[in-house]
Amino acid sequence: MSHPETPCSARKERVIALSREYLMPARVSAWERLGVPLVIGRREGYRIWDLDGRELLDVHLNGGTYNLGHRNPELVELLRQSFDELDVGNHHFPSEARAELAEALACCTPGPLHYSMFVPSGSEANDLALRIARHATGRRKIVSLEAAYHGRTGLSAAAGRPDMARYFHSDYPAEFVTVPFEDLPAMEHALSNRDVACVLMETIPATYGFPVPSDGYLPGVKALCERTGTLYVADEVQTGLGRTGWLWGVEAWGVEPDLLVTGKGLSGGLYPMAAVTMTKSVGAFLEEQGWGYVSTFGGAEPGCRVAKRVLEICSRPEVLAGARRTAERLVKGLEELRARHPYLTGIRKKGLVMALETGADGGAIRLSRALYRRGVWAMFSGFAPSVLQWKVGLLADDAYCEALLGRLDAALTDVEAESSA
Ligand SMILES: Cc1ncc(COP(=O)(O)O)c(C=O)c1O
Repeated sequence: MSHPETPCSARKERVIALSREYLMPARVSAWERLGVPLVIGRREGYRIWDLDGRELLDVHLNGGTYNLGHRNPELVELLRQSFDELDVGNHHFPSEARAELAEALACCTPGPLHYSMFVPSGSEANDLALRIARHATGRRKIVSLEAAYHGRTGLSAAAGRPDMARYFHSDYPAEFVTVPFEDLPAMEHALSNRDVACVLMETIPATYGFPVPSDGYLPGVKALCERTGTLYVADEVQTGLGRTGWLWGVEAWGVEPDLLVTGKGLSGGLYPMAAVTMTKSVGAFLEEQGWGYVSTFGGAEPGCRVAKRVLEICSRPEVLAGARRTAERLVKGLEELRARHPYLTGIRKKGLVMALETGADGGAIRLSRALYRRGVWAMFSGFAPSVLQWKVGLLADDAYCEALLGRLDAALTDVEAESSA
């Protein structure tokens, strides 16, 4: 295993140079400044290898995309088989793979969610959910959380923190309203004019460092929505698919959304897939408007085959029970580390949705870098850089957790030594 400071191989240097020249100059420079010159090569299970061969335990999972592991063998085999008979299909016509996935989503999502629509990304799925909510209610206003990230397309970006939407002159301040997380009176005020189409909510706001809502918050928002004729859209892109110990995060709080958005891990990180699932009444337009929304690659048939299997795996009682057990094991280990390491000030947790509080502005960036040096890839929270996202996979075993905790222990020792130097 090479050390992170080992000079780059020619291959890795070439990838970085090409990316700087043709792809993402500012991003390449940012990673250089942060001391994380990572180019991912081999990947397997919950491990990735830098192009130079250095192993890292992956607890970023690209936001849960690799919830079932990188290149999960069961899913890779299914995708391979699907290429023997399928291509993306023709989005104008009924398709077996797409219809079966829609049926599976109707069966496994909470409450009376029924119709589904498919797009290639979480951003597009949120964008579509907002359009649908506007049509269904005849209202234009959207309410979301100040701490939210819902994607980067037009409407999804406008519903998040406004900086990037504004940067591209795509913000709509008159129609998009944000309220603070956990503030029910502010939510009540925002909905009081009965002119809001929907509230779009991440069940646990990921980019804000996974602050876990209090017991009454999500049911309280849902009750306000019902009282004011507002639809509740659950963005489950990061909290769905078993990560909370429930198949869908909202189930942990007994909330039945009017629309549910899923993406990232939906097709095991092997094919771009995201979905909006909605009640029959919200999706009534589908009964009159056959081409209200079309997407050539949305619901690509190989992706649908894989997504259906992902839902089946994540729904297995032994998988959900295993995730809860792993979460308990990890929390015990993390609490032990917290007792010994003042740098680690708190642990946020709901099942395997976890984050580590450092108590220092930028503290998670320093911890992320220290972990990288110790062979772990974990990402700080974009909107809360004192909090490190800690996303362990659904199928991780005890040996993996032990290795992870050992490396975290070493990284915490390193940052504490740095801080006192
Ligand atoms: C909660 C949430 N919603 C939506 C998105 C957007 O998904 P995508 O990047 O697939 O467009 C993300 C991406 O990180 C996310 O974390």
